[in-house]
Amino acid sequence: MTNRSHQLLSVTVVLAAVQLISGYSFNNCIEDPFSNQQSFNCIRRKEKNMPAIIQDLPRYAINLTISINPIWNITNNSFVGLPNLQYLKIDHNHIRIIDTFAFKDLYQLKSLNMSFNYISELDPFVFQDLRNLTFLSLTNNYLKQLPEGIFSTLLNLNTLIMRQNQMTNFSGIADAVSHLMNLRILDLCFNKLTSLSHLNVSLPKSLTTLYICRNNLFTLGCKQSFLGFIQVLDLSYNPRLHTMAFKGLDLRHVNYLRLRSTSVKVVEFLNISNIRASHVDFSGTGLNNDDLLIELCKLLKRKVKRIPKLGLGINGIENLTNYTLYYCPTITGTLDLSHNNLKSTRCLTFLNKHKYIKSINVEHNHLASLQSCKTQNMVYLKNVEELSYRYNRILSVDSDAFHYTPNVKTLKLNINSIAFLHCKALKGLIRLETLRLDNNLLTDLLKCHFEDNYNLKILNLRNNRISVIFNGTFLSLRNLTTLDLGGNKITYFQPSGLDGLKSLSKFYLDGNNLKQIDTSLHCVFQDTLTVLDLQSNQIRFLNEEISSPFINLSKLSDLKLDGQRPHGLTVLPHTFFRGLHSLKSLYLTNNNIYYLAPDAFDDLTGLRFLTLDNCCVGVTQLQPGVFKNLRNVTKLIVENMGIQNVSKEVFGNLTQLRTLQLNRNVMQSIHVDALESLPNLHYLDIRNTPLSCTCKNSLLQNWTVKNSHVQVVYLYNLLCPHDAKLKFYNFDTKVCYIDLGEYIFLSTAVVILLFTVIPLLYVKLYWKMKYGYYVFRSWFSEQWRILSEKEENCKYDAFISYNSSNEQWVMEQLMPNLEGNGSSFKLCLHHRDFELGRDIVDNIVSAVYSSRKTICVVSRNFLRSEWCSLEIQLASYRLFDEHRDVLLLVFLEEISERQVSSYHRMRKVMLKKTYLQWPGSDCTNPTQAQELFWNQLRRAMRSGSRLETEEKCSEASKEEETGNVETDENYYLLP
Ligand SMILES: *[C@@H]1O[C@H](CO)[C@@H](O)[C@H](O)[C@H]1NC(C)=O
Ligand SMILES: *[C@@H]1O[C@H](CO)[C@@H](O)[C@H](O)[C@H]1NC(C)=O
Ligand SMILES: *[C@@H]1O[C@H](CO)[C@@H](O)[C@H](O)[C@H]1NC(C)=O
Repeated sequence: MTNRSHQLLSVTVVLAAVQLISGYSFNNCIEDPFSNQQSFNCIRRKEKNMPAIIQDLPRYAINLTISINPIWNITNNSFVGLPNLQYLKIDHNHIRIIDTFAFKDLYQLKSLNMSFNYISELDPFVFQDLRNLTFLSLTNNYLKQLPEGIFSTLLNLNTLIMRQNQMTNFSGIADAVSHLMNLRILDLCFNKLTSLSHLNVSLPKSLTTLYICRNNLFTLGCKQSFLGFIQVLDLSYNPRLHTMAFKGLDLRHVNYLRLRSTSVKVVEFLNISNIRASHVDFSGTGLNNDDLLIELCKLLKRKVKRIPKLGLGINGIENLTNYTLYYCPTITGTLDLSHNNLKSTRCLTFLNKHKYIKSINVEHNHLASLQSCKTQNMVYLKNVEELSYRYNRILSVDSDAFHYTPNVKTLKLNINSIAFLHCKALKGLIRLETLRLDNNLLTDLLKCHFEDNYNLKILNLRNNRISVIFNGTFLSLRNLTTLDLGGNKITYFQPSGLDGLKSLSKFYLDGNNLKQIDTSLHCVFQDTLTVLDLQSNQIRFLNEEISSPFINLSKLSDLKLDGQRPHGLTVLPHTFFRGLHSLKSLYLTNNNIYYLAPDAFDDLTGLRFLTLDNCCVGVTQLQPGVFKNLRNVTKLIVENMGIQNVSKEVFGNLTQLRTLQLNRNVMQSIHVDALESLPNLHYLDIRNTPLSCTCKNSLLQNWTVKNSHVQVVYLYNLLCPHDAKLKFYNFDTKVCYIDLGEYIFLSTAVVILLFTVIPLLYVKLYWKMKYGYYVFRSWFSEQWRILSEKEENCKYDAFISYNSSNEQWVMEQLMPNLEGNGSSFKLCLHHRDFELGRDIVDNIVSAVYSSRKTICVVSRNFLRSEWCSLEIQLASYRLFDEHRDVLLLVFLEEISERQVSSYHRMRKVMLKKTYLQWPGSDCTNPTQAQELFWNQLRRAMRSGSRLETEEKCSEASKEEETGNVETDENYYLLP
């Protein structure tokens, strides 16, 4: 290569690079649209090369996440272009090698997370520049040891997490952190440490929390004062760690010690250690019988009078007698009995000495029922505020089951099998504020259940089997703010089923079987309701005549109506959302809505977030003005709605819009002025749309690449729909800008040439050409016939493509004449037969391919909206690629050649035989002519790949032929 070509090459490379970064879109990263241009996520890119991923990020980036990529090394100076980074997360990649100067210049970095990689070695100088680092995680790597001096400059480090590595040498770790005067938390769980022996170093005084769980510790082997400043010490799951390892060790400052699953004998341990006995968690220390527990209690009692917390979980305890805890010091806080084998609580009589206890945890045991506790020698635990029986096997709860804790505020009975809740089970619990009954088998709620619980604020009944809410069930719950009834089988509320809920603010009813929205809703919750979740019920409307069920809900801010089963909302009455002036979020996804009225959202002036993802049936025509009052919306999701047309008239009023998700729609072009009318737009997602790489998008291409404020998600990966090798951002637009002079010159030249050549050829070659034409024609029709014989088995006879303005004709004329009326064709209509939840484009493709024919109903509106061109393209594709002609055009109006777009003109030249003209009502003999039209259409549909011509059948048409009709013999044209 010469010098000059070298130069040229580098100039081109530079130009290409400049073009890549001049706009506001990124190759492999997405800027969080609500992060004030500071957060970037580069996730799940198939890119191995770190520089390629981050090269186009702006200098001002502060947060950066690079996750789940096949990157395996970080090269020197990778981040020098991002000197302002503060939070860097490089997790779940394949990183093995980090070069010495990989993090050069990251002086501002506060947090570095490199968890879940394959790092086995670190260079001693790799963190050198990270002087401001406070958080470092190396979780789940293959580190065996730390090189000397690795953290020497990280004087601000506060938290160091090295869980799940292969470390064996504690001495090296202690050495590496000993000078970190700000280190507070060190996590070394899941390593292979066998002891804590260390050379002449000590841990920094600041270090108060040390986790060394799940190692292989045998001894501790450290100097007496080594753990002198530790406050939280986790040594659990070191099965070989024994009591004597603690001999002489100063644990004075420890206020929480975990010893579960070690070989430590707690009684012995308490005798030799200077730890405050009340600061040991006795969970998982093998205290499974009365003798051991009584011995422990007596010992504890000798050391302390009161104990704030007694942890006895995971001990295999099967039974607690009245003496078990009798000798214990007074428990003033929490008793943890979780993960034992208790079958009964025996009305908590084992707590008869512990009147000051505040919280009791009996989760994960084998309790099968909670019996009535209104007995003679019952305990009375007035201070208990929290009681948890979660994760048991409780089937029934008897009357007065909680008589012993009259002042309980939080009661957790969730995740059991409660099928029977006695009417008086919760009797007397007047202070109860939170009641968890979710994930049980309750079927009926009665008026008596909550009679006494008038201070209840949160009631969770999710995932039970409740089917009806009876009158007065919640009548006394006047302070309830949150009611969760999701995941039940509720079909209706009795008329006063919701009475009494005077303070209700959040009401969850998702996943039930409601068929309509109760009209009592708005009477009951006028000024209180803020959240209403009706997702995934069976609500459906069949006509527009519905008054808004939300009319008085003036405070409602969140409304979820998505995914009504199995048919979707179907009709969205245009007055449905009347009065919801405070609404901030509205969810309408997956609903099969037939038509979005242009005034449906008119009252939602406070709306911030709207998602219509796959809300509608097939192809939706968003009406101009449908968003006209949504001036506060910042995020709009209109994915997968079959949108063909993105215009200023529809989107123009969304002046606060920041994020617009238009992906998975069918528009082939977008007018730039529609996008420019959104002054605050910052994030535009147009992935998976058939935006064509043609001149009509040349302005759009220019805008996406050059504009300086709108991020087009993964712009540089958008492909051209017709040629996957071409990219949208750089398809050739030169031809679109050929200048006029050149154009005139070229066309004149061509005309002159034709005028000279054609007469010559005509004279010389006339017969040869004619002969050739006939040979070709006969070959062609032969091929056609062969192909048409092997008709495939199709799901539909025809897929009908039409514009919504012709819907009436399709419904009233086409459908009855083809599906009924003696001819039983199976038609595919988008509003009826498109599969819910699927991409519109996929739906169209599958409709064209699973139908024998595609019938396009052509009118002026149809041509204007350019609709159907996708279907026509697909059908033409079948013609060229499979030699199977599937397209039938039905003209509803007289349309002159000139008005017909290029696709149709092409068709007209190719196959003149596939046209039918609908005889309007203004012709001489409409009934007869229409009769004939239907006959011909049916015949065309029945025929193979070609319309057979039979002269005698078109007699009726011949009679009425007028002058302006084309005289092509094969052209079915009725007046
Ligand atoms: C950056 O990440 C941190 C930690 O996740 C978060 O607290 C902070 O809000 C983020 N900053 C921005 C601008 O998103
Ligand atoms: C690091 O990765 C890049 C890109 O994958 C590669 O070109 C380079 O040779 C690698 N460097 C080392 C030292 O392995
Ligand atoms: C650490 O961060 C602070 C605040 O962001 C900054 O002022 C300081 O310059 C940084 N330190 C270094 C060594 O750059």
